[in-house]
Amino acid sequence: MVVGAGYVGLVAATCLSKSGHNVLCIEKDKNKVKQLKMGVPTIYEEGIKKILTECLANGNLRFSSDFVIEKDTEIMIIAVGTPSLPDGRVDLSYVEDVFRKIVVEIEHPLVVVMKSTVPPGIGEKLKQHYLNKAKAPISYVSNPEFLREGQAIWDWYNPDRIVIGGDSAESIDKVLELYSDIEAPKFIMNVTSAEMVKYASNAFLATKISFINEIANLCDLVGADITSVTQAMGKDQRIGTQFLKAGLGYGGSCFPKDTRALEYVSTLNGHKFNLLKAVIEVNQGQRILAVRKLKKALGELNGQRVGVLGIAFKPNTDDVREAPSLSIISLLLDEGAEVIAYDPIVKGINLKSGLFNVKITNDLLQAVKDCNALVICTEWREIINADWDKVFEKMTEPKVILDGRNCLPKRQIVELGFKYIGMGVQ
Ligand code: UGA
Repeated sequence: MVVGAGYVGLVAATCLSKSGHNVLCIEKDKNKVKQLKMGVPTIYEEGIKKILTECLANGNLRFSSDFVIEKDTEIMIIAVGTPSLPDGRVDLSYVEDVFRKIVVEIEHPLVVVMKSTVPPGIGEKLKQHYLNKAKAPISYVSNPEFLREGQAIWDWYNPDRIVIGGDSAESIDKVLELYSDIEAPKFIMNVTSAEMVKYASNAFLATKISFINEIANLCDLVGADITSVTQAMGKDQRIGTQFLKAGLGYGGSCFPKDTRALEYVSTLNGHKFNLLKAVIEVNQGQRILAVRKLKKALGELNGQRVGVLGIAFKPNTDDVREAPSLSIISLLLDEGAEVIAYDPIVKGINLKSGLFNVKITNDLLQAVKDCNALVICTEWREIINADWDKVFEKMTEPKVILDGRNCLPKRQIVELGFKYIGMGVQ
């Protein structure tokens, strides 16, 4: 049984059923359940539709909006959302709702596997607070997920590691059986350590990004080129080439939320995590820096028509949660610019972002028409491979491109007549 058909839940449910397990996926959103029952994925993820269709047809995968623990359920995987609260804390209300239901419903032994990202220490608290009250023995196992959006199915079958935290050998073995067809190093530890692996990994990757953004900013000041610098740096195997792409910083539903939550947990425990504070601050600063760079190039933003290319927080996803594009659009609007946004797949911006009056199009050449400047927020293939000759024709002087992802070939772009500004690119 998998509770929650969001990113992690739906990928877990489909992939586990594909591996031959009998999976019931519970999702309280009835519309989502209706859609999933018809074989239509509710997330944009390569390969998921095929598995979904196959497993619905062979009966290994079922969906329901009713929370019922069937008699033969051995394992319940919790994959509900743990969003950020305004003060950085994690909102555990969805997780706690599930625990309340388990306590009421359960009549036979069960292994509860936590895949939702919960801060270090929370698993032990949940165990004490809820599971002792259940009518049947419940064992708790932490099994954090390291899937990347847009590559989630591939990541499921090819993980760098599988982390399992728990104190019952029997339950840990049961969880290991779920992954018997997956080759990866498996690390067994206590619940809190497993929770920490997840946060430490995301915080470390976020640190790499903010570090390289600081170096890029310094490159701009001293005349070095970040692309050359990172290519050579990355060849040191202790550093590695990944997560050294400078630009507008990290977005998405994970890094921003998890870095804030770890910082909160640190403060709560009397630990001043200065490095992490700086990582968060640098990340926010990159978006402001980009708009400042554009303002400097244009003289002023008021009355200028600016095309924002790429709304999703990264390519190959339609997710706009904490996307740098949203902050950039807000800042541009605040400065009086007229904004038109393009994304190859994002169709609208959630009302919660407050940007509901921004024009969005899925046609790049339409977006750039009469623009004085463009800001590239996502390195989509459709943007990199756009017909830049045509883009030039459609735009209005001074035809500035702020390449927030350093993804365009500067020399060719300048040769076409554009004024190019990168993030640490010479
Ligand atoms: C991230 C982690 O990579 C996953 O391992 C983890 O499971 C997931 O969070 C999670 O906690 O659920 P994801 O948010 O899908 O996955 O995205 P990433 O591919 O890691 O990218 C995150 C952000 O960092 C994006 O905005 C991306 O543009 C930015 N980034 C990434 C850079 O600015 N520079 C880089 O070099 C790499």
